Amino acid sequence: MTDQELIDLAVEVRDRAYAKYSNYRVGAALVDEHGNVHVGCNVENAAYPQGSCAEAGAISAMVAAGGMRIVAIAVAGGSDRVTACTPCGGCRQRINEFADDETRIIVMDDGDEWRAYSIDELLPHSFQLF
Ligand code: THU
Repeated sequence: MTDQELIDLAVEVRDRAYAKYSNYRVGAALVDEHGNVHVGCNVENAAYPQGSCAEAGAISAMVAAGGMRIVAIAVAGGSDRVTACTPCGGCRQRINEFADDETRIIVMDDGDEWRAYSIDELLPHSFQLF
């Protein structure tokens, strides 16, 4: 699975987002430690807080399939077209749970170029329970 293939999957699943209220569609595609790929999209709700993020969906699919580590995750978001969309704060914490130092979080920048960040770059000094 190349970065471009993962990006393409994130862009593809973004088209299936249920973003009735914000019209902001997000798709996420990740590859786990077994080489399996899982995707998710945002699913909004009339009761706004009940909506869920794309990354949350992809992570749930990974765990349900037996994956425990995110090797790489691509996130594609935007209203009319795909634009820069870094994971929200809550999703940084969700990714952190299944990330290690090698995990690559692939997002578009403001110049429409895709680049990879580490979880420590996106969530420095993250909470550690023990
Ligand atoms: N959203 C995601 O799916 N992932 C993020 O990391 C940022 C925000 C969704 C939530 C909501 O459905 C829409 O984007 C606008 O905030």
